[in-house]
Amino acid sequence: MKLNVVDRDGQTHELEVPAQGSLMEALRDPDYGLAAACGGMCSCATCHVYVAPEWIDRVPDRQSDEHELLTELEFAQKHSRLSCQIPLGAHLDGLQLTLAPEE
Ligand code: FES
Repeated sequence: MKLNVVDRDGQTHELEVPAQGSLMEALRDPDYGLAAACGGMCSCATCHVYVAPEWIDRVPDRQSDEHELLTELEFAQKHSRLSCQIPLGAHLDGLQLTLAPEE
């Protein structure tokens, strides 16, 4: 499956990834990728992304711990998500997202 990723320099990348694991796992490998410092424990917020508005209904709703962490971030926006909390699957093929700035 493919992801369309805008990095922190505004460059768009088409990323070919397996349709499994979490979105964070797909986004930490590239040079421009995420730190994902806590390894997916929903405690560091270094996997913060903005999901494109047209895709937001296809990702699962925020759970309370993710929501709480996001509300503490300076750069949080309406469609902010912690990518470690989004499982990948074929239904997200073509997902568009932007990496949020580092806090
Ligand atoms: S990887 Fe730490 S919150 Fe997602």
